[in-house]
Amino acid sequence: MGDETGDKAWWTFSIDEAVRADPKQSRFTGEMDVNPVLSGGRRMLDYHKYIGLDHLLISQRPSSSIPDERVFITTHQLHEITFKMVAFDMAVVARTLESLTKVGDPTAILRRCSEDEPFWRPALTAAARASFACRELLPSIMRYLGDPRDADETFSSIEFSRFRKNLEPASGFQSAQFRLIQRGLGKSNLLSIRLFPSDTYRENYGDVHDSTATVVDPLILRHDAAVATPAKASSLALVTHLDAAAHRVLDAIGELGHGKTAAPEHIVSADIDRAIATLERILSSKRRDVSGDVLEERKRRHTAAVEWFREDMASAVVAENDRREHLRRARAGAQVLRALAPASHLATVLRHIVRADEALHDPAHDSFLSVHLRVTRERLRQVNAYAASRGEQEPSAGTGGGGIEYLGWAQKHLIPLFPALVAYREVGE
Ligand code: HEM
Repeated sequence: MGDETGDKAWWTFSIDEAVRADPKQSRFTGEMDVNPVLSGGRRMLDYHKYIGLDHLLISQRPSSSIPDERVFITTHQLHEITFKMVAFDMAVVARTLESLTKVGDPTAILRRCSEDEPFWRPALTAAARASFACRELLPSIMRYLGDPRDADETFSSIEFSRFRKNLEPASGFQSAQFRLIQRGLGKSNLLSIRLFPSDTYRENYGDVHDSTATVVDPLILRHDAAVATPAKASSLALVTHLDAAAHRVLDAIGELGHGKTAAPEHIVSADIDRAIATLERILSSKRRDVSGDVLEERKRRHTAAVEWFREDMASAVVAENDRREHLRRARAGAQVLRALAPASHLATVLRHIVRADEALHDPAHDSFLSVHLRVTRERLRQVNAYAASRGEQEPSAGTGGGGIEYLGWAQKHLIPLFPALVAYREVGE
């Protein structure tokens, strides 16, 4: 089976109970059949072929003979496979919610939110899996690279420093699937903001842009850019519909609410000011050890970067606040759901999506990004200490992107401004 067929098979799924319950309808035939009848009348599928072991196990190509590099590759791959699964599960939920709005009147939709378990089953397991993967799997997998809170050292910073330069400018920052997931979790407006970490990419990939880039810019994501920003007709587009599909269902139920409801809270100018003040502090720290022409050139670039950020942030906030203005009825729908059907299938699914978002991003908890930050900070601290102990120059703070400060800044000041299911979450448990 070729990769294209594999991808087609992966994304060909049905939430229709009649199809799922009937093997004649659900089983793939022709080129998508993984276990065709061969000429002798036998079927020959085995474990090895079914899970594509040949492809899977030759996809680890280290840059060095250093043993610890192997876990560095596999940790990233485990994340990407998990991201793939999370993105798929979000698509299952999105399609279920989209088909729910076709049910008709709000009372029928609300009834269906509690009844018809077979209709909900794929979305229930998918939402629970997405939440489980983000809460349990991703932070655990990340710890494979050495969480300072774990007793045993599973990955050595000294060894890391010996192969890290071989990989520049590659960085997990370029994970397009992570950006796709963030889109599905209501962060598209955030992803349109140009941030500062594009110098390294511009230098290394020879791009002609003379500006900072968004995290989904093809300059950064390269051949994977279409994954983070899928075309309308692509299978991945469904993943990006999740947040809007959930709000549309709530909007329909909102008709059953009483009176006027407020829009979800807006992002305010103080939020923007805080983000800019921190960005300016980070950038000025990057000018601390330079002087003369280099300092002047950096100052020019940093001033421009802050201006671009201010502009983009302002338009992202206008777009986001405008979107929220249109979520008044969805907010009313969330209130109806909490009051009338808090234990419904819909409420369960939405709770899982909110949990998945928090488990990926929340700075106040052991989220994927928090564990990543803890691991990275410790790794880079140790790499620098090792370099200093040998009288060597400290390596640059980041691999390809803006470095460690960018991570903490974005997690604390930007991402929380764009939560998933904003109209639902605000109404409270
Ligand atoms: C020793 C291990 C790691 C180090 C030192 C490290 C370092 C970094 C740094 C410095 C950044 C900021 C951008 C840059 O300067 O390149 C970053 C971003 C990122 N890394 Fe890692 N990383 C590590 C492991 C991982 C793993 C295993 C993943 C899994 C896919 C990952 C995913 C990401 C993502 C998604 C971002 C962007 C986060 C955001 O924009 O909010 N990293 N990493």
